[in-house]
Amino acid sequence: MRISVIGCGYLGAVHAAAMASVGHDVVGIDVDQVKVDALSAGRSPIYEPGLPELLTSGIQSGKLRFSTNTADTRAAVIHFIAVGTPQSHSGGSADLRYVDAAIEGLLPYLSEGDLVVGKSTVPVGTAERFTEAIAARGAHLVWNPEFLREGYAVKDTIEPDRLVYGVADGDDYAVDQLNEVYATAIEAGSPVIVTDFATAELVKVSANAFLATKISFINAMAEIAEVTGADVTKLADAIGYDKRIGRKFLNAGVGFGGGCLPKDIRAFTARAEELGRGESVAFLKEVDAINLRRRERVVELVTEELGGSVFQKKVAVLGLAFKPNSDDVRDSPALDVAVRLNGLGANVVATDPQAMKNSRELHPQLVYGSTEEALADADAVVVVTEWPEYKDLDPTEVHSVVRTPIVVDARNCLDADAWADAGWEYAGLGRQVKNGRARP
Ligand code: UDX
Repeated sequence: MRISVIGCGYLGAVHAAAMASVGHDVVGIDVDQVKVDALSAGRSPIYEPGLPELLTSGIQSGKLRFSTNTADTRAAVIHFIAVGTPQSHSGGSADLRYVDAAIEGLLPYLSEGDLVVGKSTVPVGTAERFTEAIAARGAHLVWNPEFLREGYAVKDTIEPDRLVYGVADGDDYAVDQLNEVYATAIEAGSPVIVTDFATAELVKVSANAFLATKISFINAMAEIAEVTGADVTKLADAIGYDKRIGRKFLNAGVGFGGGCLPKDIRAFTARAEELGRGESVAFLKEVDAINLRRRERVVELVTEELGGSVFQKKVAVLGLAFKPNSDDVRDSPALDVAVRLNGLGANVVATDPQAMKNSRELHPQLVYGSTEEALADADAVVVVTEWPEYKDLDPTEVHSVVRTPIVVDARNCLDADAWADAGWEYAGLGRQVKNGRARP
């Protein structure tokens, strides 16, 4: 099918490349000439495993191209809207200006029978606003939320665990068209759920709200573990065996960040308040607060371990990305911890396998270096993103290069006993170890 994808950020670039890889003819549209040039040359503007290969093969096969000109959407019949919906500066609500602009810009090029497919995460009630203008052009609207995880975005797009189509009542044509777009995934077993617009919009934000709640739940248990001597990792294992609960997303640590979870729960809260149902999701404010407290707790732990002050102490911060396999530092707890420690006067040397460039742009005041540079003569080591290279560090080798063997494991990802056995003072979140200091 002939497809356009408007907005070539994380979502759009991956979607465009994935659609070309399953045989569609795709044009990706973005206002950013630099991004379009990079994508056209097969260079991915983000670190996402598998994406460069997909871009290159798409471009070489002639199935994929990029442009800054919205008029190039004329060649397509299916138009995906994949622009960002960031948190607005004035509060928690979503800023919809890019969605509005993308759809307005597309309207003049729509033809009879075209499909406009919203993929951006929007507050419930947004799609409805566009139905009249799109119908006036003889086109159809679908809201088709995206559930991709960074680091697995290519796989999640090609083999989605579900496809949700929010359509106008009785719009079988739109369903058939979209089934054709996703034929490969459907044949491979992805279930399709057809709903109204509001349900489709809500599916996305409620899924993210649920995930955020699960993480904050286990982090709340970590807070209780810290004052009772319990071990939150064993607790997570034990409750995770209950299939109704499940072990996934029960990793206690410095909490969630990234371009989705934090902003989506805030936008959901703001929208529910607008709808007069603020109390229904009031718990999300607690979820947010628990999450942010964990960052504070990591800084507190480092301070405690260093005897009450981090001032002029060298702290190696291992990790800056909001999670491993990503160079994304949007709302990253890791970067936040580095900045806070730096602000308290610590001599922070921060490192990350992929996210140093993005971190430097946001926080040029931090000192960045290699893992070796960060660890050399460090008074304390903080692991804030669970990259495999940090999990696999040899505690004995690292012991020989630091000044003081203090490690704060803000992701509970290290083998605590192995580090303690190698002579380290180990501190995790909600976790006890053999030689760990007794906590209050
Ligand atoms: C998320 C959703 O998973 C995805 O479905 C949606 O489309 C976009 O938002 P993503 O932002 O890529 O995806 O990251 P995810 O893997 O969900 O992790 C989010 C954050 O939670 C990360 O900072 C991660 O470190 C943290 N996390 C995750 C935990 O702290 N503990 C866990 O157990 C799991």
